[in-house]
Amino acid sequence: MSKINIAIDGPSGAGKSTLAKAIAKRLNIYYLDTGSMYRAVAYAAINSGTGIGDAKQVEKLIAEIDLRTVYEAGKQRLLLEGKNIMPYIRTPEISRAASDVSAYPCVRLKLVSMQREVAENYDVVLDGRDIGTYVLPNSKHKFFITADVEERAKRRYLELKNKGVDKCYIEVLDEMKTRDKNDSTRSLAPLAQADDAQFIDTTQMSIKEALDVIITKLKE
Ligand code: C5P
Repeated sequence: MSKINIAIDGPSGAGKSTLAKAIAKRLNIYYLDTGSMYRAVAYAAINSGTGIGDAKQVEKLIAEIDLRTVYEAGKQRLLLEGKNIMPYIRTPEISRAASDVSAYPCVRLKLVSMQREVAENYDVVLDGRDIGTYVLPNSKHKFFITADVEERAKRRYLELKNKGVDKCYIEVLDEMKTRDKNDSTRSLAPLAQADDAQFIDTTQMSIKEALDVIITKLKE
């Protein structure tokens, strides 16, 4: 029997992951954070001294990487050489490096095949940039979540502040604009809305309101 696959795409800071987690919880299905997989490759590159600007070195890293996605008590874990690296991949340095490594086709092809495998085996909500357009073009449930870049930067700034990371708003805004540009202009599977995705702008919406819109659409 085919599985339920829900695709949530959009730029960073739009509320995708909060929404995807809430949908997964509501429907009692799995959640796959595909951004964390690009972050894991960035983490592996930094820790192995791989030059992120050097295509040959990145290809070697990808050919040899021992990265697995597993679920423990319903929660996604990423194991790099058997070690759970989820707690180490949410730094600004890794965010930048993830955006850079994600432009390499060898990185995307490897991670996309892992994502498709999860989608084949489980009912799952996936969030990312290219789920509806490239990873699962046949998914029947696609959403594109966005918000104005200033609002997204404000949310990220507050999130970092709450974690004790001291960064000024303008710096966060500039980084977000750079990431948006990198993600939307890469040649393979750029950030884009699928033609059959529902568009949701969360600039003026609370997460609860956005969640209600999505759940209503899913019920339809
Ligand atoms: O969503 P998150 O900010 O964790 O993603 C980190 C980076 O991984 C993004 O900036 C993007 O470059 C990349 N990414 C991607 N395709 C996805 C998910 C994330 O290229 N499906």
